[in-house]
Amino acid sequence: SLKGLDLLSEIERLKRERNAVILAHYYQKPEIQDLADFVGDSLDLSRKAAATDADVIAFCGVRFMAETAKILSPQKTVILPDMDAGCSLEDSCPPDQFAAFRAAHPDHIALTYINCSAAVKALSDIIVTSSSAAVILDQIPKDQKIIFGPDRHLGGYLARKFDREMLLWPGVCIVHQAFSETELLKLKAEYPDAPVAAHPECPPHIVDHADLVGSTKAILDFALSSPAQTILVATEPHIIHQMEKAAPQKTFIGVPGGDGNCNCNMCPYMALNTLEKLYVALRDLEPRIELSPEIMDRARIPLDRMLDMAG
Ligand code: 13P
Ligand code: SF4
Repeated sequence: SLKGLDLLSEIERLKRERNAVILAHYYQKPEIQDLADFVGDSLDLSRKAAATDADVIAFCGVRFMAETAKILSPQKTVILPDMDAGCSLEDSCPPDQFAAFRAAHPDHIALTYINCSAAVKALSDIIVTSSSAAVILDQIPKDQKIIFGPDRHLGGYLARKFDREMLLWPGVCIVHQAFSETELLKLKAEYPDAPVAAHPECPPHIVDHADLVGSTKAILDFALSSPAQTILVATEPHIIHQMEKAAPQKTFIGVPGGDGNCNCNMCPYMALNTLEKLYVALRDLEPRIELSPEIMDRARIPLDRMLDMAG
């Protein structure tokens, strides 16, 4: 039993013993964000994983993020507190169906959102994150035909904003899909001076109301640099922890999903990671990311292109 253990000091002790680094995404529980060595968006977490000299990467995020860390640092041990921490975008895009879609469009390149399995990365030409998609798209010739998957909202947003035709894979994030336009409009009426920051995984009826559309890191930067006293936040609300820590005098309001008081704007996959599971993972070095060398070598090509092109 873990009862009676001082989890925070045990995690610190194991981290030193294992020479481990703890990387966390902004959607993790506050107590996990607070003990992490680094908290970031998908791109910055990938960069950290590629650059670390730790022996073990304890990845507090979802599985595709930990797999990316393993692909970029294959000689390291990468642990994930709960191996069931998946992603609805990954689930929407089975590799065999993606391979068939590619085969049906041989003159298209596959520009693929990092929220997918390692096998789908291995079938792709360039990986993008929400923070790097625009700068990468800008480097692809206008006449190049593009398949964009698996997030149709991010793909649709990029297509509209940069006037690029792209074939969109029909995946969505169940969390960002659930934000309610009605609830957002109610909040805007109540706080007419509050700007809206939205993640591009949100559908058009949300991003069309946004003053800033960007990655979690971009949303955080916007919320902190905005002169406004109140900010409306249309992404997973655990990021508000970082905002409140950095600017306690401001008010950050998470946009609700559905009927206005459900928990459907929280990511159920991110929520699987807990301090207890992180402690056990560091103690046992399990659950551990294991991928075939062939998949990793193939998936590293589009990931390295992303890191190069993102600058
Ligand atoms: P970011 O790269 O913006 O952190 O997005 C990750 C994610 O899963 C958003 O739902
Ligand atoms: Fe996937 Fe959405 Fe959760 Fe991000 S918030 S990990 S896209 S299900």
